[in-house]
Amino acid sequence: MASASSNEPLVFEPGAARQPLSALQEEILDLKRQRNAVILAHNYQIEPIQRIADHLGDSLGLAYAAAEAKADAILFCGVHFMAETAKIVNPSRTVLLPDPEAGCSLSDSCPADKLRAYKEKNPGLYVVAYINCSAAVKAESDVICTSGNAHKIVAKVPEDREILFVPDQNLGQWVMHKSGRKMRLWPGSCYAHVLFTAQTLTALRDKFPGAPVVAHPECTQAVRDMADEVCSTERMVLFCKETAAQTIIIATETNMIHRLRREMPDKRFVAGPTANCACNECRYMKMNTLEKVRDALLHMSPAIELPEEMRARAETPIRRMLEWSR
Ligand code: 13P
Ligand code: SF4
Repeated sequence: MASASSNEPLVFEPGAARQPLSALQEEILDLKRQRNAVILAHNYQIEPIQRIADHLGDSLGLAYAAAEAKADAILFCGVHFMAETAKIVNPSRTVLLPDPEAGCSLSDSCPADKLRAYKEKNPGLYVVAYINCSAAVKAESDVICTSGNAHKIVAKVPEDREILFVPDQNLGQWVMHKSGRKMRLWPGSCYAHVLFTAQTLTALRDKFPGAPVVAHPECTQAVRDMADEVCSTERMVLFCKETAAQTIIIATETNMIHRLRREMPDKRFVAGPTANCACNECRYMKMNTLEKVRDALLHMSPAIELPEEMRARAETPIRRMLEWSR
């Protein structure tokens, strides 16, 4: 059971009880079959949505799943840029997003017109775009990357090209630090991940001696420096399985812990706190609810639509990423 109060850590003890699916979850699964749809869900989705997903994963895994989907419809339980990516790589499918307002602060921090203007002023840059950006920004980029393959992608950019990395300065700094490759960094960030502090995480580690801290690369440098592992959400699953530690501190969106608990019922997970709260949930990821998922399948709406010219231009750098990261 989880326990929390304002200054007490949020602890998920081993032995999560598995609830049977609710009537609403069963209704969604019926509708999914009727519509010949596949449900893709990001690791940050609420637990009841995670449980009805056909594929649950990080941005990279979901991009591959979307590209390979054969179903008539892809119901994407994540945020807007993720559903857009699915539409870009699989345009003949109907791609549904339960709440069209589910955006991303990181994506918003790099508007396409600003990027275009920057490129015009600084010609010749090779643009590596983190997947957390709009289709219009992808269309302005040379290659896309995710937190799961950023090093691999940057390492493949021709040596004689200067890189502009957009939009996450934290992920960009991390890649620069690990690869030694200098890049220009767009000054964007994730409003949620920058709320973790090295101070609160160090205090938590003191409370749980021997518990490693696992942090997402969107965290600030101070947090990345004190973490035992910095990685994508998919790699977190692997790290937690492989470590001998029985208690692990998770510095990313708190709903990630639901998947970790289901896959490792014998381990204890502690949510990384912010300065004001024992947990840290992404307000956009939380906009998707079971009711909205049901309604999306019922009405086959809201669906992602993109101008074909932009979609085609955005597809090239995504395909390059999928190829480079195999
Ligand atoms: P991952 O690709 O590591 O799941 O990260 C996605 C994201 O939005 C992190 O905030
Ligand atoms: Fe965007 Fe941050 Fe939410 Fe990830 S956690 S979707 S980067 S706002």
